[in-house]
Amino acid sequence: MYLTKEEEKLLDSDNETISKSMEILVALGRIYKAERLIPVFSSHISGISYQNIGDAGLEWLEGLNAKVVVKTTVNPAGMDLVRWKEMGIEDEFYEKQMRIVRALEKIGAEISLTCTPYYLYEIKFGMHLAWAESSAIAYANSIVGARTNRESGISAIASAIIGKTPYYGLHIKANRAPNVLVKAGDVNPSALGFEIGNKLKHDQIPIFRFKKKLSNDELKLLGAALAATGNVAIFHVENQTPEWKDFDVPKEKLEVDKVEIEYECEPDLIAIGCPHLSKDELLQILKLLEKEGKKVKRSLWLFTSRGVANKNKGLIEKIESFNAKVFCDTCMVVSPSTEKYECVMVNSGKALTYLPKLRKVKVRFGDLKECVKIAFK
Ligand code: F3S
Repeated sequence: MYLTKEEEKLLDSDNETISKSMEILVALGRIYKAERLIPVFSSHISGISYQNIGDAGLEWLEGLNAKVVVKTTVNPAGMDLVRWKEMGIEDEFYEKQMRIVRALEKIGAEISLTCTPYYLYEIKFGMHLAWAESSAIAYANSIVGARTNRESGISAIASAIIGKTPYYGLHIKANRAPNVLVKAGDVNPSALGFEIGNKLKHDQIPIFRFKKKLSNDELKLLGAALAATGNVAIFHVENQTPEWKDFDVPKEKLEVDKVEIEYECEPDLIAIGCPHLSKDELLQILKLLEKEGKKVKRSLWLFTSRGVANKNKGLIEKIESFNAKVFCDTCMVVSPSTEKYECVMVNSGKALTYLPKLRKVKVRFGDLKECVKIAFK
């Protein structure tokens, strides 16, 4: 791989964090046969919950000794940084999670603690990014038309410190072409993503033909589910996503008219906000709560970013007046607090995939309306 003189210098830097970051990028570039490195506009770091990375990850992060050179945001932590006690988080977990947060702050990352960084600042069509967090990657590539590969937490940190990423994969237009057409009936987007992700072959890129236009929030749920069950990093939607017209229609076809998700249990927690909720979704939830007009009977936890919550304090207060809780900085999947419950009901194909594996709870699926409705029963 070609390296500029400046990049060679970084590879030989006396600062171990910088030289190791370059080594990671060069190794990736060699594996994927990249010709060179390209600058990135921003980086997004995943895997920062103490629950997921433990002491080894914490100590590794504390050992970093360089500053990021591009805008860098971070994924949810294992708790709401303010209301952690209400979530039932232990003191020791809090301390360790805060050490992770401080280590990220020390390298200059923004403590955004969200999987929806695109609600906090604008990313644009064609921008090169180095993002980890599969749902955000799917959103950036598909809905915005920005370009990022599926980075790991470590390669996203390396890119944040160097400001570059190897030029391969989805950074190259030709690699973004769809190779399977999915004709979909009126199916819930999360359920559809969950089902199609399971059916796709390795590295297949779907283009969807829907009967009606989907909102960006619905596409967000579709992408998160596709990424969870099918490792999908980009998808297209006819007449909707920015690059759908740029490629030939694939010959391979799939048709889905109905998806049955057969998980049954009696939920003691309803958890919504995977990926983190947008203002529009919070408004939709408030409307559903107002329709019932009384306090919820079961635990109803909603997850959003602190950035979105701070801009919508009145809305959050109204939602919480129904006894629902709106937590920030964390989510049902990366927080150990979910483990206190037996059956968690979700409207997200991604949460449906990971909750049984990571939090060892039973799951049930429903759309947003069904999730809110059951909270009153
Ligand atoms: Fe976000 Fe957690 Fe889901 S990080 S995409 S809410 S698993």
